[in-house]
Amino acid sequence: MKKILFILATLVLASNVSAQSYVPTEACMQARREFNQERFGIFIHWGIYSMLADGEWIQNRKNINYEEYALLANGFYPSRFNAEEWAALFKEAGAKYVTFTSRHHDGFSMFKTATSDFNIVDGTPYGRDVVKELADALGKQNIKLHFYYSHLDWHRLDYWPLGREGHGVGRPEGKPDDWKDYLAFMRTQLTELLTNYGPIGAIWFDGYWDKKNDYSYAELYKVWDMKEEYELIHRLQPSCLVANNHHVAPYPGEDIQPFERDVPGENTSGYLTGTKVSSLPLETCQTINKDWGYKIVGSPYKTIKELITLLARTASKGANLLLNVGPRPDGSIPDQSAALLRQMGAWLKVNGESIYGTVAGCVPESEWGVSTQNGNNLYLHILKPVSKVVIPYVDNKLVSVVSLSDGTPVKFKQSKKSGIEVEVPSVAADSPDYVLKLSFKKPL
Ligand code: GLC
Repeated sequence: MKKILFILATLVLASNVSAQSYVPTEACMQARREFNQERFGIFIHWGIYSMLADGEWIQNRKNINYEEYALLANGFYPSRFNAEEWAALFKEAGAKYVTFTSRHHDGFSMFKTATSDFNIVDGTPYGRDVVKELADALGKQNIKLHFYYSHLDWHRLDYWPLGREGHGVGRPEGKPDDWKDYLAFMRTQLTELLTNYGPIGAIWFDGYWDKKNDYSYAELYKVWDMKEEYELIHRLQPSCLVANNHHVAPYPGEDIQPFERDVPGENTSGYLTGTKVSSLPLETCQTINKDWGYKIVGSPYKTIKELITLLARTASKGANLLLNVGPRPDGSIPDQSAALLRQMGAWLKVNGESIYGTVAGCVPESEWGVSTQNGNNLYLHILKPVSKVVIPYVDNKLVSVVSLSDGTPVKFKQSKKSGIEVEVPSVAADSPDYVLKLSFKKPL
């Protein structure tokens, strides 16, 4: 009954979202342009769930009682955590930003918050604000900090009425007014995150879909009070971008369109139901193994070939890749993750020009690979070895073709009749992505 009243009240409030206007400020537009240049970020899923070593959904999956689960915090002591080492590794990987799980669905805050003791400083023997340490260390490496922030919560009693998930963790029923308190709680936390840690590149929301079964697209905007939430973010830090992993078309106030486990335009994950690629800056997030949070067994890693292919394919769609690692409970990055990140960095050191600052290439994805471009240059990413690549004719004189890795000239022909033919050196087969740089007389 209470739930019905709540739904009715929300329906009355619901208005046409598309009628809401959002005009990004110049600071926001500048931040969007910078984001669009960055192309590679690291996602981090780390929390008290890491101690259970079975992914970040374990509490919900195993229906762990919310009070019992909270006791995990008493044993959280990440003795190997070293923000400087993390930042150095991410720098070496070639990442331009890091998106850190400030609070995941389990409701535990990995930063100091005045809203409750269920946080790393007040609720664990460790007592250190890892977010503060990370913000400082990343700042020194000139890497931006973004915050993942969960809308969904499996811990708080004022997350009421419940949505799709978290029904088996033993929380008592709430009161109709609780939801207002929950929204206020989130605004306090967002204010803390955007006040205490210096400039923040983006807030990346997740879990909004928890209430997707109960409301329409427009109603959800009201239910979550997104207008107010997004305005708060843009007011506190005008350069802070907003992303929301809701898998539907972007709402007013959002600056980035995120894609979970898919490059824009594909739907292998099945999360998207007819959602179009928008004109906002785009970002694809994906795991380095199979899971977001640390999983001690059963999470096979992707190969370096797969990861670099993903990076190139993502860039070829004009999007950034946000690649996730799940640190161990002791705060160390799993060895295999660290090794793969270093290999990505080594590749980017030589081929970064074909990724950073590029836009989607004018040559569509083909059996040999993908393309990116920047100014007068077109980059062909040879992902499957072939001896020759033929691309459609471009009315722009092709001046030179070289191998990006060592500058070796490569033979080519350009004619209206046969298009552009480029020979692919046989060494291409040895690289996860062999890049050919085609320089034209005029900008493409
Ligand atoms: C999903 C999951 C979540 C993860 C996120 C990352 O929405 O609920 O655990 O954080 O994807 O994209």
